Amino acid sequence: MKVLVAYYSETGNTEKVAQSIYEGLGFVEKKIASIKDAPRAAQFDVIFVGFPVQNHSVPAVVEKFLKRIPAGKKVAFFATHGSLRGGELAVTAFYYACSLTANKKVLGTYGCRGKVKPKMIEALMKRPQDKYWALEAQSATGNPDEADCEDARKWAWWMLMKARALE
Ligand SMILES: Cc1cc2nc3c(=O)[nH]c(=O)nc-3n(C[C@H](O)[C@H](O)[C@H](O)COP(=O)(O)O)c2cc1C
Repeated sequence: MKVLVAYYSETGNTEKVAQSIYEGLGFVEKKIASIKDAPRAAQFDVIFVGFPVQNHSVPAVVEKFLKRIPAGKKVAFFATHGSLRGGELAVTAFYYACSLTANKKVLGTYGCRGKVKPKMIEALMKRPQDKYWALEAQSATGNPDEADCEDARKWAWWMLMKARALE
């Protein structure tokens, strides 16, 4: 089984989680790459796709990457977000990501919080459409932390077990 961990990250939070997922996969044949330089998904059986939640949704570059994944592939999503873990805002982004994968098998999702620069929070608080999540993001200063990374490693292993069971 060949596994690709493909991620998009602007400030390093999602990249950190991607590295943990890669570690958690153990000795399976695997590759990790930024979405911008990722090899063709067709060569892999399972594709982990990671992104920062942006505007309650999936960044456009990730959307494009998802649409190019061939039908029938197994996909698992991970994301970092300033809003609360498991909160409605982050879950909405996962729903949207899943809606883009109608012809693929979604194994599961993993989300954890990712810090946002204080200056950015200050600016976002002034925009009504961002105020809600920006308020929550104020307490994500240390994330992703070691507990988030450990959860990501365990989740990755669990996704791999699921993928094998579906073979
Ligand atoms: C332009 C922009 C929009 C964002 N929109 C949201 C959002 O809607 N909801 C949320 O929870 N976090 C949002 N965030 C916070 C990021 O998802 C979070 O900081 C993430 O961990 C960044 O990951 P990265 O370092 O991999 O880029 C936004 C951040 C930026 C820069």
